[in-house]
Amino acid sequence: MYLTLSRLDFILSLVLFPAWLAAALTVRRLASLPTAGRLRRGARIALVVTALASLLALARLFAFSRIAAFGWVFVGDRRMYTTLLLLLPGFLATLGWSFPHLWATARRRVTDRTAAVPAAERARFAAPRRAFPPQLAAFGSLGGFFEKFLPPNRPVWLNLLVYGAILVVGAALLARRARIRASRVSGTAGAPQRSRGRTLAVRLGTTVVVSGAIAALVATGIQSSTFPDTFSMMQGPADYGGGPSASHGGHPAGHHGMAAMPGASSVGTVSVNDLKTRGGIPDRRFTLTAQEKKIRLASGRTVDAWAFNGQIPGPELRVKQGELVAVTLVNRLSKDPVSIHWHGMDVPNGEDGVAGVTQNAVQPGASYTYRFKVGESGSRWYHSHQQGSEQISRGLFGPLVIDPAAPRSAVDQDVTVIAHDWKASPGVLRPSFGTSDVLDRRRVRPGDRVRLRLMNTSNLTRTFTLTGTPFRVTALDGTDLNEPGELNDRRLVLAAAGRMDLEFTMPATPVRLVDLQAPEAGIAFSADGKGSAEPKLDGPEFDKTSYGESAATSFGPDSKFDRNFTLVTDDWLGFYDGVFGLRQTVNGRVFPDTPMLMVREGDMVRTRFVNRGEEDHPMHLHGHHMLLLRHNGKTLTGSPVWQDTVLVRPGEEWEVAFKADNPGIWMDHCHNFVHTALGMMLHLSYEGVTTPYRIGGTAGNLPE
Ligand code: C2O
Ligand code: CU
Repeated sequence: MYLTLSRLDFILSLVLFPAWLAAALTVRRLASLPTAGRLRRGARIALVVTALASLLALARLFAFSRIAAFGWVFVGDRRMYTTLLLLLPGFLATLGWSFPHLWATARRRVTDRTAAVPAAERARFAAPRRAFPPQLAAFGSLGGFFEKFLPPNRPVWLNLLVYGAILVVGAALLARRARIRASRVSGTAGAPQRSRGRTLAVRLGTTVVVSGAIAALVATGIQSSTFPDTFSMMQGPADYGGGPSASHGGHPAGHHGMAAMPGASSVGTVSVNDLKTRGGIPDRRFTLTAQEKKIRLASGRTVDAWAFNGQIPGPELRVKQGELVAVTLVNRLSKDPVSIHWHGMDVPNGEDGVAGVTQNAVQPGASYTYRFKVGESGSRWYHSHQQGSEQISRGLFGPLVIDPAAPRSAVDQDVTVIAHDWKASPGVLRPSFGTSDVLDRRRVRPGDRVRLRLMNTSNLTRTFTLTGTPFRVTALDGTDLNEPGELNDRRLVLAAAGRMDLEFTMPATPVRLVDLQAPEAGIAFSADGKGSAEPKLDGPEFDKTSYGESAATSFGPDSKFDRNFTLVTDDWLGFYDGVFGLRQTVNGRVFPDTPMLMVREGDMVRTRFVNRGEEDHPMHLHGHHMLLLRHNGKTLTGSPVWQDTVLVRPGEEWEVAFKADNPGIWMDHCHNFVHTALGMMLHLSYEGVTTPYRIGGTAGNLPE
């Protein structure tokens, strides 16, 4: 609903300007019509055009009010200024002054159509209060036309100043023109008469100035958005979330300065290199070798993949809670450096695998070993965090499944299902489960307990359905839900990078799992391995905010928080790293100007995610689990839900909380890596932690 309204609002913002321009021109024309017949006809046309433009303006106001019902935050920015401040005055003035006069003229009885219009009457049409309002509305609706170019989330005083000044100056210029024209039409002495030559000169001058200004804007846009060769991750403005700032807390150097000086050793600082797992003999060792490989999907289509150990997805790493794990990454790609991030694992920061933040990307021919002790059980995954937008989509990822130290509900079949979009030749995106992009039939004995670990490694939100059996959602993002109830035919929405575990008992009849992107494919489970079931695609959506039973958590919606952050996502048309397009903003900024969320170890942190844009944003925080507190202002009532990736859909607001108990510099970003690469990336920064690594540079670190 929000999305529909937001799109409607966008379309209206585009059509309002041409509509009001037409209204202004048809009204303006009236003063120069010579005969009574033509005047009445002209007035009728102007009336219709103005009425249409007014309807569109009303529609935008209506859309505005409906969007405002989702929360003021969804309108209280650019929308508010373009709609209420810029458009509304001209619109209301038109209704008040121009409209009644048009109406009267259009309905007037004309006896002699060819009679000349008396000068006094012509003057009445040219009167500024009749001609000027639709012009002002046209000028005001230009704001909507350029809305996406305007920066989001600027301070209110600045917006009022800028938009107010634009309105005042524009109105003054238009009013002056209207007055000049009025006096010219009424032949008042003293009205400045311009020669043709002068008019031409003025027009030419204006054109030169305007195109010069645009050229200058483009040039600065390209120049100022282009990344330097290398820069520190830690250069955004610090956001202390209402907590104490570093300088007040006895760290005089401040985070900013320290980050710029790798190796700075003032008291109380620690490098990410010191936040590693040390000592101990690994219980489990794995080697993941990245290499280019052509891989065939089940349909026969091929993928030019980048694979770990020659397979896409990479091999499933299966470990047990409490084990010390060592994974050696070997890079055999021809020219691209790689890294591995352990998604959803709260590993020590130095093992987090983010190129340019916690390590340098591993160059071709080189290797690198990660070590971590496995804390919690559940479904996780691993993926490259170097040029994620390219490397993950090509295949540098795999599942990581952690068995609990003490086995809980045993299942007979434990099936990992990885939803991914493969770029297959010839130039098509194939939504697949693993490498299966057609219907995959599997044999399961009736009566068997089956666990499906759904993982979404694609960039987009996925919706699954499981038809043919009641089932339970037993875990989200690897954390068990409390007393999950039985469900039927629910649509299961899963964020990009999210995981969802389902359990069911295999019935005698077939069961079908599909991804709504490709409902003809999916997995059919049956006793004989031949059967299948028709997927049911239109069930109600699974609601995690009221599923299962509530349980005690160490903090909750009413706890006292040391830091409160608000992250509003939006979009903004302009240049990013020299390229023009739609940037994905957080609080009106794109990386590396996005805020750094500053915390201290031990802080209780609350974050509010608000999505004002029109695309899904799966917001992922590294190194921590977020407890979901409220959705659109409503407290969750079911099982506690802990996630590492929170899907924030357009028009949604999620309030989450976590304890800052894992010091480091942690990425916090949208896991649609297309968005990450367009700026939607920031980080959580513990006071006193520094990194010697930099984005770009000789290592070519590109986390996104
Ligand atoms: Cu799954 Cu920053 O990543
Ligand atoms: Cu996003």
